[in-house]
Amino acid sequence: MNSFITSIHGTVISGKQIGRTIGFPTANLQILSEIPKLDYGVYGVIVDWKGSKILGIMNIGIRPTFHDHSEVSYEVHLLDFDENIYYEHINVDICFQVREERSFKDISELIKQIQSDVAYVKEKLRVMDRSNQNKNHFVHV
Ligand SMILES: Cc1cc2nc3c(=O)[nH]c(=O)nc-3n(C[C@H](O)[C@H](O)[C@H](O)COP(=O)(O)O)c2cc1C
Repeated sequence: MNSFITSIHGTVISGKQIGRTIGFPTANLQILSEIPKLDYGVYGVIVDWKGSKILGIMNIGIRPTFHDHSEVSYEVHLLDFDENIYYEHINVDICFQVREERSFKDISELIKQIQSDVAYVKEKLRVMDRSNQNKNHFVHV
C-alpha cells in the first residue's frame, strides 16, 4: 500500500466521549503536522501506532449532528481495536474518501450510516491489501 492521499500525525486527546456511547469510540487527534487540505468527510485510513498498523475510519469535520459547527475535529475510529491510546503519538495515512460529512436527523441514522461506512472501509482495504500481497503484506481484516 503506497498511494495515500496524505499523511498526518498527532497526539490522541480526549473528545466529548459521545462516540463511545454510540458504539464508535474515536481517538481525537491534536495534529502536529501540517493541517491537511481535505473536504469535511469520512476517510479510510491506516494508523501507525508504535510500529503496529491498525485499520481505521476517520471523520474530519464539524460533526453537525451533535455539535454547534464550532471547531474542526479529526477523529479516528480504530477497527477491531480497544486499547487505551490517550496521549499517544500516532501517524495516520489517509487512503481514500468514503463520503462527505452530513447532518443526520437522529443518532440512529448516523449509527446506521457509520456501520455501512465501516463495512465499506474493511472491504476496500482488504482489496487494496490483496493487490499488494507480493509487496509489503501489512494487515489482515
Ligand atoms: C466513521 C465516522 C463517521 C462520522 N460521520 C459523521 C457525519 O457524517 N456527521 C456527523 O455529524 N458526525 C459524524 N461523525 C462524528 C460523530 O458525530 C462523533 O464521533 C461524535 O460526535 C462523538 O464525538 P466525541 O466522542 O468527540 O464526542 C462520524 C464519526 C465517525 C467515526
